[in-house]
Amino acid sequence: MKILAIETSCDETAAAVVENGRRALSNVVASQVKEHRIYGGVVPEIASRRHAEAIAGITRQALEQAGATLGGIDAVAVTHAPGLIGALLVGVNFAKGLVLSTGLPLIPVHHLKSHIAANYLAFPELEPPFLSLVASGGHSHIIHVLDYTDFKVLGKTRDDAAGECYDKVARLLGMPYPGGVYLDKKAREGDPDAYHLPHPRVDGSRYDFSFSGLKTAVINLLHNAEQKGETVNTADLCASFQKTAVDVLVENTLLAAKDCKAGKVVLAGGVSANSSLRERMEKECGRLGLQLYYPPLSFCSDNAAMVGSQAYYEYKAGNIAGLDLNAYASLPVG
Ligand code: KG4
Ligand code: ZN
Repeated sequence: MKILAIETSCDETAAAVVENGRRALSNVVASQVKEHRIYGGVVPEIASRRHAEAIAGITRQALEQAGATLGGIDAVAVTHAPGLIGALLVGVNFAKGLVLSTGLPLIPVHHLKSHIAANYLAFPELEPPFLSLVASGGHSHIIHVLDYTDFKVLGKTRDDAAGECYDKVARLLGMPYPGGVYLDKKAREGDPDAYHLPHPRVDGSRYDFSFSGLKTAVINLLHNAEQKGETVNTADLCASFQKTAVDVLVENTLLAAKDCKAGKVVLAGGVSANSSLRERMEKECGRLGLQLYYPPLSFCSDNAAMVGSQAYYEYKAGNIAGLDLNAYASLPVG
């Protein structure tokens, strides 16, 4: 079964053709990041307008690269939630136009579920159940994936997402948007024990995260140093921040994996590209005898191949939308 998938939830216009949920025949991504960078973050209206300009051409490229035409496609999938509403609506309406003209089934896909599915493309042997950490610019969730379309959220952030926290701290340190990758790189040159930052604790939940306190601690540290006329070593601060953020992500995920007796841990979302998160998880999962999976870098950030993968399993579960499909800025996973 060949699925044409569309993704426009944030600042990447993406289309892909995916076969039987596991093989990306094409995966085309047009990033708007350079344009948003001047503003230090994604400007929603600009994102929607760029999607509207790019979506048809990107979809044509995805079909061409897969050696397919619409006649050889079996279903159309689209990210309908969560994300920037104006951005999502461009993809949803484009997908509806395609199914109206072809008569193909329309499959709505949840963005976080598709991030997890990126791992199905990279690892043909991977099957649920497993425990997943989904950490991106908008979300930080610990999810027990019981089956391809059966998800139980065990924990999530109470405030900022992990990637959002990385980006805000990177911005404070003068790095370009999105700063997660730059902070990660700089951290590798520094001493992770140089600065003491608090491990954010969350009352009433074993697995929930809180990242805004960590960001505030960095702001306070920078202000105090400025007032005292001291210079802050950027590499050391990045390394100390990275150690603290990764500690929390690893600790909560492995606690959840232990509690639900999971044998496999799956990382997903933009932050799963983080070098320290990967290393720490490798080490800890090795020690605990857990199998660890994380996507190749090209599948960590937003793309449509992951949408086509999850869509295959949604289709098999009968999750087909009508032409009245809407987009939603937020939508629970489970
Ligand atoms: O999943 P994604 O592409 O988009 C959302 O759905 O949000 O995630 C983007 C986020 C950004 O916050 C970005 O800074 C972060 O992932 N990110 C990283 C790294 N690479 C991307 N954060 C930490 N370390 C990285 N190497
Ligand atoms: Zn994403």
